Amino acid sequence: MTLPTINPTSTKAWKALQDHYEHIKDKHLKDLFAQSPDRADSFSIEWNDFYIDYSKNRIDQTTKKLLIDLAKEVQLDKAIQSYFGGEIINETEDRAVLHTALRLPSNQSVKVAGKNIVPEVTAVKDKIKTFCDKVISGELKGHTNKPFTDIVNIGIGGSDLGPAMITESLEYYKNHLKVHFISNVDGDHMHQNLKGLNPETTLFVVVSKTFSTQETLSNATTARTWFINQVSSEAVSKHFVAVSSNIPNVTKFGIDSSNIFPLWDWVGGRFSLWSAVGLSISLSVGYKNFEALLEGAHEMDEHFRTTSFEENIPVILGMLSIWYNNFFEAESEAIIPYSQYLHRLPAYLQQGIMESNGKSVDRNGKPVDYQTGTIIWGEPGTNSQHAFFQLIHQGTKLIPAEFIGFKHSLFEDKDHQDKLMANFFAQTEALMNGKTEDEVLEELKSKNLSEDKQKQLFPFKIFTGNKPTTTVLINKLTPKSLGALVSMYEQRIFVQGVVWNIFSYDQWGVELGKQLATRILDEINTSQLSAHDSSTKTLLKKYLN
Ligand code: F6P
Repeated sequence: MTLPTINPTSTKAWKALQDHYEHIKDKHLKDLFAQSPDRADSFSIEWNDFYIDYSKNRIDQTTKKLLIDLAKEVQLDKAIQSYFGGEIINETEDRAVLHTALRLPSNQSVKVAGKNIVPEVTAVKDKIKTFCDKVISGELKGHTNKPFTDIVNIGIGGSDLGPAMITESLEYYKNHLKVHFISNVDGDHMHQNLKGLNPETTLFVVVSKTFSTQETLSNATTARTWFINQVSSEAVSKHFVAVSSNIPNVTKFGIDSSNIFPLWDWVGGRFSLWSAVGLSISLSVGYKNFEALLEGAHEMDEHFRTTSFEENIPVILGMLSIWYNNFFEAESEAIIPYSQYLHRLPAYLQQGIMESNGKSVDRNGKPVDYQTGTIIWGEPGTNSQHAFFQLIHQGTKLIPAEFIGFKHSLFEDKDHQDKLMANFFAQTEALMNGKTEDEVLEELKSKNLSEDKQKQLFPFKIFTGNKPTTTVLINKLTPKSLGALVSMYEQRIFVQGVVWNIFSYDQWGVELGKQLATRILDEINTSQLSAHDSSTKTLLKKYLN
């Protein structure tokens, strides 16, 4: 059983949503709250230490019902079963999609081609634990018998963004090891990082699922040369480990087979931080915290798998995103964490969401005639308030925004936390209410301004409001709550991909650029330009001369 192939626009629910949109599109959130004062109770979900308030969205009970009807009509329930059951739902790459199996308790089972994969997953987890315990305690030493002080994760895309985002998010929980991330093939970044490192106490973790990615292989080669020049080639085996599903390529590169942490083709790169790709996370915060991260993700998986759509967090969030994307024609969504620790979350989600759902061919192989993947962007609050919030408040575009905040801070500085959270609550209220003409008039009158000045300023001070937001309020930033939060987004990606009738787990769109870069690099190396358009040709000539 694979995924259903239903065109969402052909469903009854889609048509009903189109009609319903005409009826609700001009309603103001303020009026919706006035009509049903208990809206916050009706449109919220309390789950573990999460409270999701989606009442400040431009919906009513009919919208919710129709969105859920749509999810049912496209057979989301069946799709969830296929996904968790290990069916080949990544049809274009002929693979199951089982990052959820990486966080399953070891006594459970999930089969791929008739074989339970959980024992293999558990064996790799044991290997991660043993290795990390030894590096952290100093038992495992470098070539000159010194304990490791620095870890360098070399990888890109999912082999960088996930581990980097989690490591930064969990900085509070980290140990003495300094973890560095090198992803870009930009040599300046590589050399800048190497400059501050002592090869005798540095451990390189080369992460590449395919072990064929140009950036990662170049960076790993440069790191190895730098290391050999200062220590020796015999010492490489003590300072380089790899995470990959391509064992022959890793061995060819010169990393000992005992230093390889495997992963499987049913783990997509952008969903791989839960596998050995998360080795740097586990080195940074210890295996126990890594395990708690997996546990949190598993709890969210179970919530998603077993909860009715009406109360299902990823389903509700995914369907809301579809509501704005396909009916309000909103082009983008902002994700605003009110925690500096989560500053890499939007970048991480850009890959997760945009590489997954940025597709324009449906599961029948036909071009879609409706919008799919949304553009994701964001930065932490309150910084973003002083950067791009102006556009969300008073610009011409509708930008649904998700606010993520924590009830408790980690250092428990009440003064700072209260100020941070006051901003968090104020922004969603301001975006919803805006400022009416009467309110602006009153404000202007209260200031000692001439009448002419008041008239001049009047139009600029009005905020229409009615800007939708969703609030995710979590008790505290812990490895477990972070795991649940990331899984929440992963499952939301799945929901949207199923409804849009696209394949979320391939990424053919990044191939063309890679192929052309290889060809152009050849031309640069040989100074022999082949046929190009006049723009590319002139640019290349300027580079070469
Ligand atoms: O950008 C395409 C991509 O394949 C991503 O999906 C992936 O996360 C990244 O490249 C890195 O791939 P690898 O882990 O195989 O080096």
